Amino acid sequence: MSTRTPLMAGNWKMNLDWKQGLALVEELGEALANVDLSDVEVAVLPPFVDLRTVQTAIDAGKLPIALGAQDVSAHESGAYTGEISGAMLTALNCTYAAVGHSERRQYHGEDEAITNAKVKAALEAGLTPILCVGEPLEERKAGKHVEYTLAQLEGGLEGLSAEQAAKVVVAYEPVWAIGTGEVATPEDAQEVCHEIRELLRVQHGDQVADAVRVLYGGSVKSANVADIMAKDDVDGALVGGASLKAEEFAKIAGFRAA
Ligand code: PGA
Repeated sequence: MSTRTPLMAGNWKMNLDWKQGLALVEELGEALANVDLSDVEVAVLPPFVDLRTVQTAIDAGKLPIALGAQDVSAHESGAYTGEISGAMLTALNCTYAAVGHSERRQYHGEDEAITNAKVKAALEAGLTPILCVGEPLEERKAGKHVEYTLAQLEGGLEGLSAEQAAKVVVAYEPVWAIGTGEVATPEDAQEVCHEIRELLRVQHGDQVADAVRVLYGGSVKSANVADIMAKDDVDGALVGGASLKAEEFAKIAGFRAA
């Protein structure tokens, strides 16, 4: 039996202004009141401009929701127009920062080097990076999905000590399954999540490999989450579209009841 606490993280992407974000987190708090959260952690990753409001609502309502950002700067502070530092996020009680999401890689040209620098910056600031990896459709069709994903993982974790690697959350998100409604099968998810853990085992040993949470992401909904979560190496989900509906996301958090 794994001792890893599953994490259900809702990536709101570029949706919901602060008022809408406030409404959603309050609704989510209510919906979660009916969910057994004794062995699952719930987090939301709102847009930067929503964070302060959402944080205040979580604090005021003592909601069982952790907070995270969708990205973090690789730099500590200074002349980096438009960037948000890890320290700014920890000052907002953020626990998590997603790093290397495929949309950052695709639309903002973020490569392994920048992703690795962001992972390190997040750790330095005391945040838990959620390092996103996963192959595009062509790589999957060519049977190169494991190789491709592990190369991203190695790049993202380069230079980390075992102690640092143990703090990272990895999210396996096959690009072809993101926002497409095309969910990977539980077996597909397990295959790659397992390989991710085995690479961690080779690089950093059993303790790290057994501690790191590996999430699956890509069209997760309440209707498919339980089957995916039944797999040994899947420790949670990074949820996009379905995290924008409070009831639906609460059902995902309550996957055991499904
Ligand atoms: P989706 O997005 O659940 O809408 O497919 C997942 C993600 O990109 O994190």
